[in-house]
Amino acid sequence: MERNISPSLLAADFGNLEKEITKINKSKASWLHCDIMDGVFVPNISFGFPVVELAAKISVKPLDVHLMIIEPEKFIDRFCKIGIDFLTFHAEACQHIHRAIQQIKGNNVKAGLSLNPHTPIDILRDIIGDLDLVLIMSVNPGFGGQSFIEHTYNKVENLKELIIRSKSKAVIQVDGGISKANAEKLFDSGADILVAGTSIFHSKDPIKAIDEMLQYD
Ligand code: DX5
Ligand code: ZN
Repeated sequence: MERNISPSLLAADFGNLEKEITKINKSKASWLHCDIMDGVFVPNISFGFPVVELAAKISVKPLDVHLMIIEPEKFIDRFCKIGIDFLTFHAEACQHIHRAIQQIKGNNVKAGLSLNPHTPIDILRDIIGDLDLVLIMSVNPGFGGQSFIEHTYNKVENLKELIIRSKSKAVIQVDGGISKANAEKLFDSGADILVAGTSIFHSKDPIKAIDEMLQYD
């Protein structure tokens, strides 16, 4: 997979959501990232089904939904039915990870597993072959606009090695505190797709902000 960007809708102007999504439609972004927070797994509440349904209707980009909720298995079928492309849940929030992954795939949606900054990639060893995506959190989940955790580069490199060694087809996504300041080094470390909210939607020109994260010598 080449270098890709998935803008996080969390940082968009919710008073003009249709316009914001239309802007992303015209950009070089590969996917559109939707963050679902439950106020239990993370100390924040974001948005739910109606917003994802709206995004599915307007976005021409594949939808990549990031669940930051406990017991994600309860809502997998409902999210999948919206017509999304990737559904990612947290390893720390699920008792039966293998079963939840099969549940997502049974809905013909690609399955992703996310790890918090403190969770070692070793826990992926027996599940990596089943995953379509691994999401490495580069901030503690719950809020946009936080500072990037530097240890992430190391983690991405180690994950890349694990993926190659195990012949897994999983792509590496990184999420949190990403901008043109760290995009290049993350891609060089092995990341396939970077999620960015603040650095895209809070910039004067979101299309240019995406270009800048993709173009460098
Ligand atoms: C954080 C979310 C991120 C967030 C990224 O918990 O998972 O997707 O929107 O926002 P920025 O790019 O502002 O760190
Ligand atoms: Zn996210």
